[in-house]
Amino acid sequence: MNSTWEQTKAQQAPARDQIVCHCHQIRASEIQSVIEQDCVETVEDIGRRTNAGTGCGSCQCKIQRLLNGLPVDCSPCGFCDGCGTIRKLCVCPVDQVERAPSAA
Ligand code: FES
Repeated sequence: MNSTWEQTKAQQAPARDQIVCHCHQIRASEIQSVIEQDCVETVEDIGRRTNAGTGCGSCQCKIQRLLNGLPVDCSPCGFCDGCGTIRKLCVCPVDQVERAPSAA
């Protein structure tokens, strides 16, 4: 490497194809490929085809983000208790009640 710019680019490159599921060492590109080629729609479908998300389960939020066409990483997020989608994308009544601003 000759420059700081080259070093920076080299450090950023792995992030574009980061490991999404550490339990099974599945990268974002593999999951994205399954989404595009097999037209899967659920985290469970991804798990059946790649094993991603079938270990500890902590990566399922990231898999859901890929399924929704979003980048792997986001700010802290969680699943809606009512419908199971990412809270930021959820439109079900359970999540709306949980996120409603308090009147106080
Ligand atoms: S990190 Fe994917 S199942 Fe544990």
